[in-house]
Amino acid sequence: MSTSASNDVKKVTTRSFHLKKKAGEPISMLTAYDYATSLALDRAGIDSILVGDSLGMVVLGYETTLPVTMDDMLHHCRAVARGAKRALLIGDMPFMSYQVSVETGVANAGRFLQEAGMDAVKLEGGSDRAETIRAIVACGIPVMGHLGLTPQSVHQFGGFRAQGKTAAAAAQLVRDADALQAAGCFALVLEAIPSELAKLVSERLDIPTIGIGAGADCDGQVLVTHDLLGLFDRFTPRFVKRYADLHQVMAQAFEAYLAEVAAGRFPGEEHSLAMDADEWAALQAELAD
Ligand code: KIV
Repeated sequence: MSTSASNDVKKVTTRSFHLKKKAGEPISMLTAYDYATSLALDRAGIDSILVGDSLGMVVLGYETTLPVTMDDMLHHCRAVARGAKRALLIGDMPFMSYQVSVETGVANAGRFLQEAGMDAVKLEGGSDRAETIRAIVACGIPVMGHLGLTPQSVHQFGGFRAQGKTAAAAAQLVRDADALQAAGCFALVLEAIPSELAKLVSERLDIPTIGIGAGADCDGQVLVTHDLLGLFDRFTPRFVKRYADLHQVMAQAFEAYLAEVAAGRFPGEEHSLAMDADEWAALQAELAD
């Protein structure tokens, strides 16, 4: 990926992430799964767009992220890539696309860059994933790690539950964070862990941490855009702040449309096409023959 997507757009890169951490400037990240959202986020000046496998829950309607496939991810990554010129684009590797073998993990990671316009990939897990991460990074593919509440392990956790709450669990998370940095990750998502632990990890690592439900002391923040916009209402994690209620906006717009169609008020003349008068006359003459 070039550092400049066009003459006047300076592309955010993994190096920008490092420079921001060094300068103490927070990194902003949100998820997107389609062209329109990607365009809006990029125009707003977001640092990074994650095409998360949360796609499965907030767009495709599954109960968990587990059914999401490589084909699903690549399809939505391509749409997002068409909308963003500046943001660093990160594709989330879906369940079982990197767990089976190092080779499959490397091949699937490559597809995100080669076929779907992503700049980097993200995958979940700690020390157990170090070998795979090392192999992907060795191919020149930047990898973001993900620790804490890793949704692909929802059944192992017994639900979407906060992690790292005991001293033993927290110590393991610190060891995993060290291992992911050593394996070559350029950044690390910390999800649903105590703020003190996230602060400790953020201060300990050279690579930036991006928090979601991990307090204010991470080097950056990420949210699922559908949560932020009020477009996913099956449940709302405590750490989500709603910046809009688009469900309500949509409901109002749909009801107004239904009412206008029912009353014959839509379409009005301004939404209709008129035929050229001469052509209309010619048509009538032809039909009269
Ligand atoms: O899939 C996703 O959207 C994520 C973020 C919540 C970090 O992994």
